[in-house]
Amino acid sequence: MADPAGAPCVEVVDLHKRFGALEVLRGVSFAVDRGSVVSIIGASGSGKSTLLRCINYLEQPTSGEVRIDGEPIGIERRADGSERRRSMREIGRFRRDLGMVFQQFNLWPHLTVLGNVVEAPIRVRGLPRRQAMELARACLERVQLSEKSSEYPARLSGGQQQRVAIARALAMQPKVMLFDEATSSLDPELTGEVLEVMRGLAVDGTTMIVVTHEMGFAREVSDRVIFLHGGLIEEEGPPAQVFGTPRSERCRQFLAKLLH
Ligand SMILES: Nc1ncnc2c1ncn2[C@@H]1O[C@H](COP(=O)(O)OP(=O)(O)OP(=O)(O)O)[C@@H](O)[C@H]1O
Ligand SMILES: [Mg+2]
Repeated sequence: MADPAGAPCVEVVDLHKRFGALEVLRGVSFAVDRGSVVSIIGASGSGKSTLLRCINYLEQPTSGEVRIDGEPIGIERRADGSERRRSMREIGRFRRDLGMVFQQFNLWPHLTVLGNVVEAPIRVRGLPRRQAMELARACLERVQLSEKSSEYPARLSGGQQQRVAIARALAMQPKVMLFDEATSSLDPELTGEVLEVMRGLAVDGTTMIVVTHEMGFAREVSDRVIFLHGGLIEEEGPPAQVFGTPRSERCRQFLAKLLH
């Protein structure tokens, strides 16, 4: 039986994902403790986005398990040992615990900043409007955008829009935040303000899984770094080890290329 008290916040167990003949994930396992930050790095096409999308079941894993606080998302394991596949509706309930921030911000253009952030707490979590507004304001404060509450997304910079997207994910009060290259579509001068917000979340003890090409950020903020290669974890460890003295030749080459 699952033991939520002792279990890691997120556990990925022997995850496989196949698209037709292409096996993108070939047995990935790792755990993320509550309050810790794990960064996932690797070359384009190595399966980083697929891994994140499998963790929140935007993609159904071909096999393996994802557990949140010890509970598998995809199946229910009963006390008598029997198992049952969960319905999409049940999976949706788990998904609320996973805040996702993508490269594209996907804000509603017809809603204000506050409207974007308050929407899911009311519609999905069923919070009373007043409570949801309070929560949304607090989330906008965390991303330092309180003064833009009544603005429409089109009138914000890319960095501001991405910070709204982060506030929107935070407003669901997820157990873990997943970031998929949250700064990749931004001009360099706007990257810093988004990384600053992410750094703040990490310092506040937010559990985070971060796919990033920002190696300086990964090195500074992560508790652990995972280097994906060919659908497998090729190297894993504290940032000082992965960036400083990687054991894998492929990881060494990947990092060397980035520095040139
Ligand atoms: N829905 C899909 N159908 C078929 N193939 C897919 C699908 N999604 C991803 N792939 C393939 O899986 C592989 C891994 O893709 P993924 O997007 O996970 O890589 P990535 O590490 O995130 O790359 P990048 O750094 O460029 O974002 C690629 O070869 C990609 O073409
Ligand atoms: Mg990707």
